[in-house]
Amino acid sequence: MIGTDLQKAAQLLAEEAVIAMPTETVYGLAGNAFSPKAVTTIFQVKNRPSFDPLIVHTSHWERVPALVRRIPEEAVLLAQHFMPGPLTLLLDKSAAISDLVTAGSPRVAIRLPRHPMAHRLLEILPFPLAAPSANPFGYISPTTAQHVADQLGDKVPYILDGGPCVVGLESTIVGFEKGQTIVYRKGGVAVERIEAIVGSVQVRPHSSSNPQAPGMLKSHYAPSVRFVIGNPEQVAANHPDLKVGTITFRRPVSEVPRIYQLILSPSGSLDEAAQRLFAGMRHLDGLGLDLIVAELVPEQGLGRAVNDRLRRAAAE
Ligand code: TXA
Ligand code: MG
Repeated sequence: MIGTDLQKAAQLLAEEAVIAMPTETVYGLAGNAFSPKAVTTIFQVKNRPSFDPLIVHTSHWERVPALVRRIPEEAVLLAQHFMPGPLTLLLDKSAAISDLVTAGSPRVAIRLPRHPMAHRLLEILPFPLAAPSANPFGYISPTTAQHVADQLGDKVPYILDGGPCVVGLESTIVGFEKGQTIVYRKGGVAVERIEAIVGSVQVRPHSSSNPQAPGMLKSHYAPSVRFVIGNPEQVAANHPDLKVGTITFRRPVSEVPRIYQLILSPSGSLDEAAQRLFAGMRHLDGLGLDLIVAELVPEQGLGRAVNDRLRRAAAE
């Protein structure tokens, strides 16, 4: 059931149920982070391997110290600039956070959503919410309530509808190792903006064997249709026998029917491209195409996160 009733959502969460909630990045599959039952249900509903930890969401920075052991100076600065917002900080966890949530890691991922509905919900709850993106494991993240209903509708009692997500890509995940700031996942806060606050950062290439972030598997965000990165005109010309869909940054592809094309931002805005990417990929995935070919966008600002998702969608 889809609705906008915050009290109902809060009531279900208090009863250790798992519901879907909007955030400005993507929709989350949320449960009481302090309840082993709720956390276990999240892993089951999402079909997510238990070695892949969950982000813990809260409403106010004042609530963070209870969840972590210490907060580095850089984390305070980043929080001042980007929280609430599409930033997640990896911090040493306190005893309040169970190993179930962090998959045994000594660090917990903390995020303060900026979406007014998520913020209000977290504010009225006496516990934080563990929430991964509300998609089946490995598939494209949902950016509308309907996306969640399409795939998990029969598995959650309630989907809180906060409209389409304005950022459209997951949060940027940042942590600290020996005084160095590390970006583990490119996302809704551009790397350049983080560097403007804390100086140069190290961007970790994702890998399925990265013990720092076991969930950042290379193949992810994947549509069901075969997906490649390349030159759309060329790939379409090479496969005259196939129904090919295309993703371009701002221009149309002349050889391909317009309905099989996703043009991310005709005006050339990387923020708009990020916002429209996942919904567009889902749409193309539902058209019965044989192949989707995407061109990369400029490697700057949110374009870096867009390209990261395109590459992962294309990974084997
Ligand atoms: O924007 C977002 O971050 C969304 C919204 C719902 O908040 N959430 C989200 O969650 O994208 P999820 O679970 O789909 O992706 C979180 C990523 C995973 O790759 C996970 O492995 C990593 O964060 N992660 C979570 N906790 C971690 C931890 N303690 N240490 C290392 N990586 C962690
Ligand atoms: Mg996810």
